[in-house]
Order: sequence, then C-alpha cells, then structure tokens
Amino acid sequence: MNLPENISPDRFLKNFDRSIINDRFEIFKSLKKETRSRFSEDVRKGLSSKKKFLLPKYFYDDKGSELFEKICTTDEYYPTRTEKRILLERSDEISLKNKKIRTITELGSGSSEKSELLINSFLKDRNFLHYIPIDVSPVLMDSSESLLKKFNNLNVSGIISFYENGIKLISHIDSSPKLILFLGSSIGNFTRKDSVEFLKMVRQSMNPDERFMVGFDLEKDTEVLNRAYNDSKGYTAAFNLNILERINRELGGDFDLKKFSHKAFYNSGKMRMEMHLISGEDMKVWIDEPGYEISFKKGETIHTENSCKFTFESIADLADKSGLAVSDHYTDTENYFTLTSLTVKK
Ligand code: AVJ
Repeated sequence: MNLPENISPDRFLKNFDRSIINDRFEIFKSLKKETRSRFSEDVRKGLSSKKKFLLPKYFYDDKGSELFEKICTTDEYYPTRTEKRILLERSDEISLKNKKIRTITELGSGSSEKSELLINSFLKDRNFLHYIPIDVSPVLMDSSESLLKKFNNLNVSGIISFYENGIKLISHIDSSPKLILFLGSSIGNFTRKDSVEFLKMVRQSMNPDERFMVGFDLEKDTEVLNRAYNDSKGYTAAFNLNILERINRELGGDFDLKKFSHKAFYNSGKMRMEMHLISGEDMKVWIDEPGYEISFKKGETIHTENSCKFTFESIADLADKSGLAVSDHYTDTENYFTLTSLTVKK
C-alpha cells in the first residue's frame, strides 16, 4: 500500500475500521452510527407534511437500484450513456491535461463502470494510480476487486461511508494531488442551497492543483426531458412506485400500489424535473413503524424527486458561490450533458 510513512495513525483514523485485504487493496468502514437507517423517521416526517414528500435517496434499495440500472438502458433516458460517451471520447485528453494527478477519488462510486474509463486512460500515461472510491454501499468491494484484476498497477483504498466523513479521511491516507469525481448528475437531486453546501465541503478538501469533475445534466428541449422520465417500458414508473413498496416491506405499510400513479414533468420555472406519486382516490394508509395513519385526498401527490437541469451559466454561478471556478467543460455534440472540471477559485 502506498501509505506515506510520515502519516501516523491519528485520532481521525479511529473513526474507521481498516481492513487490509491484500498489498493493493484496503477498505475503511466508518464506525460512526451514521449508517443506521433513519428511514422510518424520514418517511413519517415526509408523509405528515402539508405537501407530502419522500427523499429520493430511499429509492435505492436492491429492487430500486436494479430498476435504476434498467432505466439507464432505455432509449429515452440519455444521461448515463451520454456521460459514458463523453468519458470514452475525452478520458485520454483529461489524463494528459492533469499529468500531476496520481490519485482518483470518487463520491458515490457504485459499480465504478464510468470511472473505469478514466482509470484506463490515466494508466496509459502513468505507471501507477491510486483509486479511492467512497460509497455507502458495500458493492464497492466487488467493483474494486474487479478493477484490481483488470489493472495490475492500480491500488485501491475503498471507503464505505457517507461522503462527508469519507472526504475527510482522504487526506489522512494519501497526500498526492487528486482528481475528485462526482458523476451521473447526482448533484441534480440537491436543492440549490444543498449543492452549494456540498461543493463547499469538497472545496475545503482541495489544493490548488487538484480537480473536481462533476457531471451536470443540461437544460434541453422539454419533450426530450419529459420522455426521459416517462420511458415507454415503464421502468421509471416502477422505480417511483417502488418507494411505496419499500415502505410496505420495511415499515409495515399498507399502501395499495394500484391506487397510485407515476407523474414526471419538467418545471421550467425551477429548471428541474419533478417526480410525484398521485393518489387515485380518497384513502387512509396505515404504517406500522412506528404506528400511524395518513389520509390522502384524490389527486393529492407525494413529491418524490427533483432532478435539476443546468446551463453553463448556472454551473459557473454555482461554482462561484462555492469558492470554485470552471476550468473545462467536456460535453457531447448535442450539449445534452457536461462533465465539468472545477478548480479552487483564485
Ligand atoms: C441518479 C439522480 C441522476 O435524476 O436522472 C432517473 C435518478 N430518477 N430517473 C436522475 C432518476 C428518475 C437520476 N439520478
């Protein structure tokens, strides 16, 4: 492992359980109680609110993650394949532009399928690379194993944790210049205020010679957007409804899924796609955990997701407010999506 000798185990490292799998692979697992689910509290809060809502992070149980993968294969949902194409075409260039960088770290790495394209390019120009994926999900273990098999001059330090703690840990395990990745336009799920908070937090961990690459879904024809969130195979509808199924399964809810329908539309004033679940009739729903009843009026909606769309101006503005500046945009020919490279603002 390329642990610098001068970094001795310090107090911060005590927040993590470190397992050395082999001489190229180590895993840090957060010991903080943060991973304990607040699902039941968040559901109660959202459903008791005047305008009912549920948090999109709860889409991703096993079934939801599977459905999201299926959404990504539809003709209508362009973001995933567009971002992948940008990486396929531009990774070599990104590697050459960032010669000093020896470490790639990724927030929300999941299957690492897209970052693999960058890793591949970076290793053409370097004889060594350190990859530090951060994800709450232990799938990180499997994807790291498979990367290590493919690239024999790669080392991996996986961090199983929420972003905030994971980011703080990085400087304790590797002091070389880093490229930080946040792909997939996941940033679109945040409110504007939360994205500034998030970018500021990452910025605080950055040195002037480091880069932060963020995937942003760009504003485009409303029809294209609406189709992407209303695919003809019905995967997006199933993905949306799965959150109610999850409440039934995990919290003992008695939602009748046939009585709710999927609705997704572009809110142009707020520059975002919105997903809702609409109640088909007046009804009451019981939830065992911790035991309460929720009333629905016919036509009432549960707001389940915002997916913000960006322009080059709104990205520059967001960066500026977070103490960052745009250094490059890597886009597709139609300007559907951008991978934006950010630096610390001078
Ligand atoms: C994973 C948050 C980027 O907002 O497009 C896909 C999730 N929702 N279809 C998005 C999603 C409906 C996706 N993100």
